[in-house]
Amino acid sequence: MTCNGPFKGRSISVVNDLSLDEQLYLYRKARELKETARAGDDVEKFRINDKDYQVYLIFMENSTRTRESFRNAGKFLGARVNVFDAATSSFNKNESITDAIKMLFGYSDESCFILRTTLEGVCTWLDQAFTEYAHITEKPKPSFINAGDGKHEHPTQEFLDEFSFLEQLNWKEEHIHVAMVGDLYHGRTVHSKADGLRIFKEVEVDLIAPPLLSMPSHYVEKMRSNGFQVRTFESIDEYLAQDKVAPIWYFTRLQLERMGEAVLERAPYLRQSVTFKKDYLGRLPEGCRFYHPLPRDRNFPTIPFFLDDLPLNGWDSQSINGYWTRIIEIAMLSGRIGEDFEGEHAKPREFIDDFVHEAPIQETAKPEYKVGIKPVEEGIVIDHIARGAPIGEIWDTIDAVRKILKLDVRSSHGVYHSNREGIYKGIISLPDIISFGEKDLKKLAAIAPGCTLNLIRHAHVAKKYRLSMPPRIYNFDEISCKNENCISYPAHHEGVPTEFIRKGETTFVCKYCEREHKFRDIWDI
Ligand code: CP
Repeated sequence: MTCNGPFKGRSISVVNDLSLDEQLYLYRKARELKETARAGDDVEKFRINDKDYQVYLIFMENSTRTRESFRNAGKFLGARVNVFDAATSSFNKNESITDAIKMLFGYSDESCFILRTTLEGVCTWLDQAFTEYAHITEKPKPSFINAGDGKHEHPTQEFLDEFSFLEQLNWKEEHIHVAMVGDLYHGRTVHSKADGLRIFKEVEVDLIAPPLLSMPSHYVEKMRSNGFQVRTFESIDEYLAQDKVAPIWYFTRLQLERMGEAVLERAPYLRQSVTFKKDYLGRLPEGCRFYHPLPRDRNFPTIPFFLDDLPLNGWDSQSINGYWTRIIEIAMLSGRIGEDFEGEHAKPREFIDDFVHEAPIQETAKPEYKVGIKPVEEGIVIDHIARGAPIGEIWDTIDAVRKILKLDVRSSHGVYHSNREGIYKGIISLPDIISFGEKDLKKLAAIAPGCTLNLIRHAHVAKKYRLSMPPRIYNFDEISCKNENCISYPAHHEGVPTEFIRKGETTFVCKYCEREHKFRDIWDI
């Protein structure tokens, strides 16, 4: 069966790879499928029924729920389901992930690869690499689904969580009030809520964790900037001592294996703060339900086993919802469903490289720049380097410019007063260089944003350009992601080209693992 729905060949690497309209479509379709199947009615319209469409499960980390729900989803769909044995594969002979997938891609006309990896950003990279490779091989581009990549994201868990919340709320999207309890520091499923909960028009979030396990501030900021009302509490005791208790609680396991010695010593206290106790039961609002991405730690469950048979138990049906939502995810990406989608599709980000602006030239009678004590007759002068920064930082920036641009030529440099009292700037004079190529200009803009580039002709400034921070920094040998778990981290030798995308004034995120870097930290010097 040839399927050509509008999601065909798309990938799900992070939650935001689906727009809000697309996420809501996924939930609507999963609801329709679940209700139709439960009523015993015909579900054929959801099936792919094509053994040339392969669903390949590649799990390099342990999993029960995600792997088995995807495996069963593939079978339901009537696709060819393969489970790759990562433990005995040539990954152990240093084969790259990209090479391995190229081979598996050759086994079928159309493919959807589902990957759980320790490395972060793998699916974003593969989606990019196979856009080109599929074109060369004249085959349809495969889809990639991130089934959990290190500490980064687990988008399909987020989708089944939101589906479960919608079920509890009778499919009303107006308002949600949710408490998140446990290890909010390490848990990728609670971090994803900063994006996933945006499907609700009004969001109240209560974060319950002792300070050592609290939600990283950038996720709290992200929630607030998404319009969520956020409150924080250090323990369940403290939370239940106030009146406004959420009807939805989302627990997570304490990931003590990721914590240092100092934190481990405090494990009993940390657990106690976020473990539910019998005498709390009377303080919960009517209809309250608990959720958990699972697995629970059987020795120290934050939701103790005595709660399993109470109506509070939302986590078992939540886990089964992974089956319904994952059927729909594959059905969308295979092109089987989606023709009836209405709304906005996720848009690829666009970048406008306008980091060079011509600046006005001020007339002066005197020669304007010098190399040491001699005026520059012909050449280039880089001015306003790190203007206004502390003097040490200006010297560091001069040093970085010289090293990265390999300016080992006759020249001079220094730190000087700027026009305003107490403000300093760096200057590099380069009499032997008469032009800069686009790549070097972009490097310069990304090392010393705000600097000016002066072209000197006959001892006068003939042209002046002000350089600002580029929206993307990529394609340079001297940059790398500093997250050791990123697929692009050089020591992994996966051949992934480094790329950073500007997020704030001086902050960049890695395109793959989304780790934030200050702009100076992206450079390898
Ligand atoms: N929630 C979750 O990802 O479970 P598994 O690790 O068992 O797949």
